[in-house]
Amino acid sequence: MSDFIKITSTDIPEINGSFSSHEELYKFSIEKPEEFWGPIARARLRWDKEFTKVMDCNMEKGVFDWFIGGKLNASVQCVDRHCEVDPDRIALIWEQDEPGKEQRITFRQLKEMVCKIANVLKSEGVRKSDRVVMYISISPLAVASMLACARIGAVHSVIFAGFSAEALASRIMDAGASVVITSDQSIRGGRLIELKKTVDAAVAKCPSVRRVLVARRTGNPVPIIEGRDVWLEEAMEAQSVECIPESMDSEDSLFMLYTSGSTGKPKGLVHSTAGYLLYASFTHKQVFDIRDGDIFACVADIGWITGHSYVVYGPLVNGITTVLFESHPAYPDHGRYWEMVQRIRPTQFYGAPTAIRLLLGHDSSYVTKYDRSSLRTLGSVGEPINHEAWQWYHEVVGKGKCDVVDTWWQTETGGICISPRPSAPGAEIRSAMPMRPLFGIAPVILDDKGNVLEGRDVSGALCIRKSWPGIARTVYGDHSRYYDTYFKPYPGYYFTGDGSIRDLDGYYHITGRMDDVINVSGHRLGTAEVEDALDEHFSVAESAVVGYPHDIKGEGVYAYIVLKEGVIQEHKQIIAELRSIVRTKIAGHAVPEIMQICPSLPKTRSGKIMRRILRKIAADQIEELGDVTTLADPSIIEYIIKNHRHCI
Ligand code: WT7
Repeated sequence: MSDFIKITSTDIPEINGSFSSHEELYKFSIEKPEEFWGPIARARLRWDKEFTKVMDCNMEKGVFDWFIGGKLNASVQCVDRHCEVDPDRIALIWEQDEPGKEQRITFRQLKEMVCKIANVLKSEGVRKSDRVVMYISISPLAVASMLACARIGAVHSVIFAGFSAEALASRIMDAGASVVITSDQSIRGGRLIELKKTVDAAVAKCPSVRRVLVARRTGNPVPIIEGRDVWLEEAMEAQSVECIPESMDSEDSLFMLYTSGSTGKPKGLVHSTAGYLLYASFTHKQVFDIRDGDIFACVADIGWITGHSYVVYGPLVNGITTVLFESHPAYPDHGRYWEMVQRIRPTQFYGAPTAIRLLLGHDSSYVTKYDRSSLRTLGSVGEPINHEAWQWYHEVVGKGKCDVVDTWWQTETGGICISPRPSAPGAEIRSAMPMRPLFGIAPVILDDKGNVLEGRDVSGALCIRKSWPGIARTVYGDHSRYYDTYFKPYPGYYFTGDGSIRDLDGYYHITGRMDDVINVSGHRLGTAEVEDALDEHFSVAESAVVGYPHDIKGEGVYAYIVLKEGVIQEHKQIIAELRSIVRTKIAGHAVPEIMQICPSLPKTRSGKIMRRILRKIAADQIEELGDVTTLADPSIIEYIIKNHRHCI
């Protein structure tokens, strides 16, 4: 019998031993990862074959193996296990865009949908380890499609349904997918989005695609290409509600998800089956204090990692009801979230600071007129949350009664790594910082020479010293890029790309990206991607893109543009064309809010663009430009500053 001492509101009963404090158990998780993760993995996942070794990891090389020799299937963890004990329990509540419209799906129904789609995929020749691209917004059918891929061992790659046809095409090609799953249209905030048409434009450039499966969302007519397109629901009708799950190795890929980096095209980060599932479900339970019967409302879309880990896999492995939110926080008015909370009565709400900032500018009666008494925990994710937004979330939404957890993590980490909970029971939560590392996560802060900064009151590059089960295993098709991005900058450590402060009390704050990645409304964007798109315009000689502080989006996109010599086209028209190029090449959220046409860019004598200076100008911090003496032509700075306020 375990003589475990209750250390948080959610126990970890699998760990034998006595720990007198949260800190002691945390220390154990870092020092004895095999003894910590082994029993948890054995107890919380259903194994076809038990693993023989907990881990074999090498931080120097960036090679990670967890739960070696184990065999399991992800969809079994998410549906079959719960179906056996309580098939009528609600698995999904689909909060549709149309106000007041919802659909509930039980675990039995979900299992049937998963098996039918899995059989459709099999009949289309999809086999273990084949990649299936999904371009579809959140719905029960979309979730079932992800799990159907997992059931047959195919690797799903969900592309956020806001990306353009070109962005979709380059990801389909990179993944080498032969099947794409989409819907006729999607609908958000009452606006129709042409998913099928975008898929048609993308697939025209992708010879690898044999089949497009089309789900019906709006039922409006869309073009159908004979011989290539098949209506998903019709194909499902003929299929059996049983499908024997493929037994996968722990380290087989479960899915890949594209994300932006500081250079080059987006990378497809690959997540494992066992390690990922364990980490997503474990962190879900611990951070949000999940109890039987809970209803979890994470309002992210499945096109992002938050949707994968905390809409789909975490909650479903834990067997609780998960809400699929298809709408917009301001539709039909600024009370949408809270009207939903009153109707569905979730126990947790997990959202993004950008939405909170959008809502707090409006009358608080949009919140207070609805009953929010079901809520115990409020989570924030995706970007730094400012104090004002945190306070509003805590006081107005949570009436001061809910835990507010600012959760720091990344597509690469698979799940939450730093968060105020779990903690010792009742431990303080401070405003607007993620504070405490999760069990098994060993954050370190390094200076620019790569020295580890020990102790408190230090700031530098946020790295992680030890492997954890949820870490992404590679970049699809390019392991050396994975190594170069995450393990080469600080040998022996995983480099997050973020800066961090460990304060006087030992709590972690995130200071933002240290690389050329910006965060627009929680959407991660590589400035190089936007520059590449801008540079394609025939009048543009070069460009530099930086982020600048934006009240609601967190960061906005600011582009400095240099035109080719002799260009006579009107600037206004060029700007309009540049907007459209970025929208077509990448996505709406990548379009610069501000574009400034300049005669040249500030460069060092060796020709490197001084982005630091451009960032300061964009942020209106011209007093803090710092040393500009290394510039080849300092006069350009004056010009840019003078015109900065007059740009479009
Ligand atoms: C980047 C990762 C984590 C899932 C959604 C975003 C920033 C994320 C926080 C936070 C400050 C945060 C970081 C990180 N970020 N959470 N709580 N406080 N910054 O995943 O698209 O992979 O982006 O988002 O800069 O590196 P992602």
